[in-house]
Amino acid sequence: SEPFSEKLRVPEALTFDDVLLRPKESRVEPDDADTTSRVSTSVELSVPVLSAAMDTVTESELAIAMARRGGLGVLHQNMDVEETVAEVDRVKRADELVIREVVTASPKQTVREVDAMMEEEGVSGAPVVSEDDEVLGIISATDIRPYLEVGDRDEVREAMTDEVITAPEDVDARNALELMYEHKIERVPIVDDGNHLTGLVTMQGILQRREYDSAARDDEGRLRVGVAIGPFESERATAVDAAGADVLFIDCAHAHNRNVIESAREIEGSVEADVVVGNVGTREAAEALVGFADGIKVGIGPGSICTTRVVTGTGMPQITAVAQVADVASEHDIPVIADGGIRYSGDAIKAIAAGADAVMLGSYFAGTDEAPGRVVTMNGKRYKQYRGMGSVGAMQSGGGERYLKDTDEDEDYVPEGVEAATPYKGSVESELFQLVGGMKSGMGYVGAETIPEFKRRSEFVRVSSAGQTEGHAHDVVITDEAPNYSPDS
Ligand code: XMP
Repeated sequence: SEPFSEKLRVPEALTFDDVLLRPKESRVEPDDADTTSRVSTSVELSVPVLSAAMDTVTESELAIAMARRGGLGVLHQNMDVEETVAEVDRVKRADELVIREVVTASPKQTVREVDAMMEEEGVSGAPVVSEDDEVLGIISATDIRPYLEVGDRDEVREAMTDEVITAPEDVDARNALELMYEHKIERVPIVDDGNHLTGLVTMQGILQRREYDSAARDDEGRLRVGVAIGPFESERATAVDAAGADVLFIDCAHAHNRNVIESAREIEGSVEADVVVGNVGTREAAEALVGFADGIKVGIGPGSICTTRVVTGTGMPQITAVAQVADVASEHDIPVIADGGIRYSGDAIKAIAAGADAVMLGSYFAGTDEAPGRVVTMNGKRYKQYRGMGSVGAMQSGGGERYLKDTDEDEDYVPEGVEAATPYKGSVESELFQLVGGMKSGMGYVGAETIPEFKRRSEFVRVSSAGQTEGHAHDVVITDEAPNYSPDS
C-alpha cells in the first residue's frame, strides 16, 4: 500500500478570508445589479438569501419577513410535526389575498360584545353571519361607536350595515380594490353561490401585498417557505408538503451517507415540493446526489457556532467546498446553496463567485427581532441567544438526528456546536438591506449585472495574512459603529 507520508502531499482548500474578487472594468452601477437567482430547480428568489434552519433563528416570524423581502426562511426541525405544519400555515397565510379564518359577529350579540371581540382579535370590522354562515351584514368600529355612547343592550342587527358588498371566490386583487373604491369600503366578504361566507379581502391586505413587490411568492401569491426535515423524517416531509411548503431541506451534518441518501431519494419521490439535500462539501458527495436532488447545500463545519472541525477533525474550508460541489452541480443544472461561515456581505458574494446560487446564514440573522428568543443585556450590551443545532441544548430539544445521533434525553452527547449569544441587531429589514446592498456593490466591482453573468465573470485572487489585515479597518480606533461592519464579528 501507499506510504503514509504520501498522505501529507495535501491539496489546498480555501475559505472566505483566503480570497478576494478581482476588480474588473464595469458599466454596472450597484443599484442596477439584479440578484435574482435560484435556490432549487423550480424556486427562484429575487434575493438569494436564506435564514438558517436553527431553533434560535427561523420560525414563522423570520420566515415571513424574509419572504416579504424576496428571500427565504427555512423552518427548523426542533418542533413536532403538528407545530411545523402550523408554522408553515402561518407563513402561507401571512399575505394571503383572501383571509380564510375570518373573525365574524352574530346578529344576536350585543354591540358591546362585538366591540370587545374586535379589540381582542385586532380587527376593525367583521361580517355578521347566521348560524350556517350566511352573510347577513357587516359591522365596523365606525358603525359601533354611536351605540356605545348610549347603552349596552343594542343588538348587532341594529348597528350593522345590511346591504353588504360581497365578491365571489374567483375575485382578484384588482377587482376587489375597484369594488372597495367604488363603494368606499375597506373589506369585502367572499361568498359562495348560496351567499355563505368563505373568506374576506381587506384593503389593508391588498396594500401590504403591494408594498412587498419583490416578495418570494408561490403560484397562488402566497409567501414561500422552506422547511428542514431530518434525514429519516418522511412523516414531517409528507405533512409539510401537504401544507404547501415550497422547498424541503433534508438537513444532515453529513449527507454523504448511504442511508441518508437513500432516505432523501425516497422522500423526494413522495412529495411535490422541491427537495434540497445537504450538507456536503466534496465533488463525490455532489455526484451522489445528482439525479434526484433539486438543490445541494454545502457546508461541513464553517458555521460560527459549529465545532465539527475541532471535535471530529473533519471539514472542508467553505470556498473550496462550494467550488467543488458547484463543478458537479452546474453540469446538471442543480442549484447550490452555501451554508455557514458568512459574516459579511463580502463573504456572501464570494460564495456566489465560487459557484453558489444562494447563501444561507445563521448568526447574521440570529440577533434580529424576528428571530425567536428574547434580548438579554450583558455588560451594558444587548444580545440574543444563538446556539448550534449540534449543541447539547439543541440536541436535548430533539435536534440530534441532524448529527445522526439518538435523541434520547438521558443520553450523554458528543456535541458539535456551542450555545452562545450574538449582538442584538434590531429589525431584519436593515440587516438584509446591508447584506444585499454589499452583494450588489460586489457585482458592480466585477462588472456583472446578473448573478449568472457574475458567476462567469468573477475571478479570485489569493490573499496573504498581511493582505487580510489590510482589508479590515486598521490603525484606527472606530468611533461610530458602521451598520455593516463590526471588527469582532
Ligand atoms: P453561521 O456561520 O451562519 O452558520 O452561523 C449557520 C450554519 O451552521 C450549521 N450549524 C452547525 N454546524 N454544529 C455544526 O457543525 C452545529 O451545532 C451547527 N448548528 C448549525 C448549519 O448548517 C447552519 O445553517
